[in-house]
Amino acid sequence: MARENKKFVLAQRPKTDFVPGETFKLEKGPAPTADELKDGQILVESLYLSLDPAMRGWVNDARSYLPPVQIGEVMRGGTISRVLASKNPDVKEGDIVTAFIGWTEVAVVEKGNFAKAEVPEGGQLTDLLGVLGLTGMTAYTGLHRIGKPKAGETVVVSGAAGATGSVVGQIAKLRGSRVIGIAGSDDKCEWLINELGFDVALNYKKDSFKKDLAAATPDYIDVYWDNVGGEILEAALSRAKKNARFVMCGSISGYNGSKDGKGIRNLSIVVAQRIRMEGFIVFDFAEDYPLARKEIAGWLAEGKLKRKEMIVKGGLEKAEYAIKNLFEGNNTGKLLVEIKSPNEVRGAKL
Ligand SMILES: NC(=O)c1ccc[n+]([C@@H]2O[C@H](COP(=O)([O-])OP(=O)(O)OC[C@H]3O[C@@H](n4cnc5c(N)ncnc54)[C@H](OP(=O)(O)O)[C@@H]3O)[C@@H](O)[C@H]2O)c1
Repeated sequence: MARENKKFVLAQRPKTDFVPGETFKLEKGPAPTADELKDGQILVESLYLSLDPAMRGWVNDARSYLPPVQIGEVMRGGTISRVLASKNPDVKEGDIVTAFIGWTEVAVVEKGNFAKAEVPEGGQLTDLLGVLGLTGMTAYTGLHRIGKPKAGETVVVSGAAGATGSVVGQIAKLRGSRVIGIAGSDDKCEWLINELGFDVALNYKKDSFKKDLAAATPDYIDVYWDNVGGEILEAALSRAKKNARFVMCGSISGYNGSKDGKGIRNLSIVVAQRIRMEGFIVFDFAEDYPLARKEIAGWLAEGKLKRKEMIVKGGLEKAEYAIKNLFEGNNTGKLLVEIKSPNEVRGAKL
C-alpha cells in the first residue's frame, strides 16, 4: 500500500499575518512512489524545512523576483531530504540532498533541482539550510559585493540576532570592521556581544534607541545592512556617513502590511550624503557560492564563526505555527522545522 503523504497548499492569501488553519490547507493522499520515477528524477522524504521571512512575500499576488505561489499550490520552501529511490546516477537511496520541494513530506525531484549534501568539517547537517545554505550565501555575497566593509569602518546590522544578520556581523568583524548589531531584546544583544564578538548591540525596542544609535556611531555609519526597513532604516539613514553603502537585503517590518502607514521620511539624506543603496537577491551572486562555502566552512572549523538554530520539532504540521516566530522575533539564528528526525531514518548517511 502506498505511504500517506502530507503537504500544505496555499489556501488563502493573508491580508496581514499568516493565520494557522486559514492561510494553508493540509492535504493528505498517497505519496509518489519509486515506480513513477523517470530517468534523472529522484524520490525524497524531507527531514528539515527552512522557514524564511521571504515566504510572506511569496504568497502575495504581486510582481516580485519569483512568481507568486498560486492558490492550491504546495507552499514553496527549501529542505534537507533523504533519497528514497533514485533514477539519477549522482545519488542513491539513503543519500541526503538539499532540494527546494516545499512544504511536503515526500516528493519527486527533477534532475538539476537538488544538490547532494556535503557537510564540511566543523559543520552539521542543518547548516546546509543555514550558515552553509542560502542564509550564509546571502550574508557573504551581499556583504562582499555591496557592503565591501573595510578594516576600521563602522558596520551596522539590523535583524542582527537572526539567521542572516548574525552571520553578516561576524563576517564584518572578521574583516576588521567595528560592528554594531540591532536586535529586539536584551538577551539577543547580550548574545551578540558576549558570544559573537559584536562591539555594540542595541535593543531597538527601548525608548532610547535613536539616542543609543547616535551615541554608538560618533563617526557615523559606513555600511548599513538592512534586514528590517521601516523606522530602524530611517534611524540608520540619519546616521549615515558620506558615501555610505546601504545593503538592502530585506524589510521584514513591512512584510505583514505596514501597520503605521508611514514611509521612509528622510530619504533626502541619500542625496545629501551620496549614499549608495543597493538591493539584491542572493541568487544574483550564485557564482560566489563555492568561495563563500569554503570560507564560511573554514571559519566554522576554526571556531571563528558561530551560529544558533531554533529547530521546531513535531513534523510538517508545525510549520504554519512555527513561521510566526520570525515575525514575533522569537528566533535567534536560523529557524527550521524538523519534519522527520534523521535518527529515525535507518541507513541515512549524515
Ligand atoms: N535578499 C535576499 O536574497 C535575502 C535572502 C535571505 C533573507 N533575506 C531577508 O533578510 C532578512 C532576515 O531574514 P532571516 O531569514 O535571516 O530571518 P531572521 O533574521 O532569522 O528572522 C527574522 C527576525 O526579524 C526580526 N523582526 C521581525 N519583525 C521585526 C520588526 N517589525 N522590526 C524589526 N525587526 C523585526 C526579528 O528579530 P528581533 O527580535 O530582532 O525583532 C526576527 O527574529 C529578512 O528581511 C529576509 O527577507 C533576504
